[in-house]
Amino acid sequence: MSAPILNPDTPEIAYRGDALCVEDTTLAHIAASVGTPFYAYSANAIERQYRRFGAAFAGRPARLCYSVKANSNLSVIATLARLGAGADVVSEGEFHRALAAGIPGNRIVFSGIGKTEAELAFAVAHDVYQVNVESREELEALSAVAHRAGRTVAVAIRVNPDVDARTHHKITTGKKENKFGIDLAHAPDVFAEAASLPGIALKGLAVHIGSQLTALGPFEIAFSRVIELFRVLAARGVRLERLDFGGGIGIRYRDETPPTIEEYAGVIRQMTRGLDVELAFEPGRYIVGNAGVLATRVLYMKEGVTRRFVIVDAAMNDLLRPALYDAWHEIVPAHASKSVGQAVTQSVVGPVCETGDAFALDRLLPPFRAGDLMAILSAGAYGAVMSSSYNTRPPAAEVLVRGGEFAVIRERPSYDELLARDRMAPWLAGR
Ligand code: LLP
Repeated sequence: MSAPILNPDTPEIAYRGDALCVEDTTLAHIAASVGTPFYAYSANAIERQYRRFGAAFAGRPARLCYSVKANSNLSVIATLARLGAGADVVSEGEFHRALAAGIPGNRIVFSGIGKTEAELAFAVAHDVYQVNVESREELEALSAVAHRAGRTVAVAIRVNPDVDARTHHKITTGKKENKFGIDLAHAPDVFAEAASLPGIALKGLAVHIGSQLTALGPFEIAFSRVIELFRVLAARGVRLERLDFGGGIGIRYRDETPPTIEEYAGVIRQMTRGLDVELAFEPGRYIVGNAGVLATRVLYMKEGVTRRFVIVDAAMNDLLRPALYDAWHEIVPAHASKSVGQAVTQSVVGPVCETGDAFALDRLLPPFRAGDLMAILSAGAYGAVMSSSYNTRPPAAEVLVRGGEFAVIRERPSYDELLARDRMAPWLAGR
């Protein structure tokens, strides 16, 4: 029996003979030296996705700002920095990461609805390329910060186009009831105010209606509303030079059929024809999502009354998406021969003391046995970044693979490190 074909969009993660590999490195080899659980990312897959996104806009001024929130490991950001990527950050912490990975401030877009004054000051001091402002109040705060620093900061106003992105409700951001952006109808007033504020250089409009979008329709509606506003503003004498179209397109986790990046770019080229603007994009998931797996080992097989449980050593603290969004991630054995034989309905669960700590429920999977290594696919985006040490479990290590080489790019913390920032209250110390 031949090894199953995995995600066709990501040839870097595939079986070579019996062994599941990331590029030329087997997961079993990494597991032997790093232990489980661990995330493994393909450097080549990350680069390919970035290049493909850029190539889709060739000839059209387009700025790619990798959305650091998807995977903020310094080595991942640095991989993209070397290709010339900018960054989209949503906190001073991410700003620090982007800088540390070699992306200068003048290639960083600062997004988010709740930037503190200190964060704004940090961005201004580091020559931020653009701050995407989400409220009148933030605009005033930014103006004060920039004015105090004797600087002028480039600003895009993020608008809320009230469009249903048709994605999971927890990651929908462009409906009017969502906390994001400024209502389209209010935007012209905000622009009028901004024009009179010191320290603010109004450069553009920004929009982001949600993540993991698998259809072009919602993008088209949102972008056409933004372009309409762009024209209204131009007619009022507000000359803008930038349009920031937010995050990237969705990816294939299971059987989704997202548009190709070329189709997405085609629509945008068409819509922005004749507009003399620089486009910006903030893709995260598209770049790293399918480039990573979470490798985990089976601890126990447990025959429940109504379910066959595969208890693994990764848990919701390592990969939260299934628990939080009921997200589907494919699960495959690290050794294809293990899949020989009748698939069995099994539930893959972690050790955390919550029923929600499950990676798959009642799924037809190859018959796993204790000690087997498996991979949870499409875990490169919103995986390690959303991990925690819940249940005082050390979060999974992270590994970057390039060809036959791999490097640990984040160590699994020791128990001493996990406890290190707790302090005994003085009245408890010494007893
Ligand atoms: N720009 C802005 C303003 C965003 O809010 C986001 C994502 C992005 C760009 C990047 O979007 P992407 O290209 O990755 O679709 N934790 C969730 C996803 C949350 C997305 C939040 N914002 C998940 O695991 O599905």
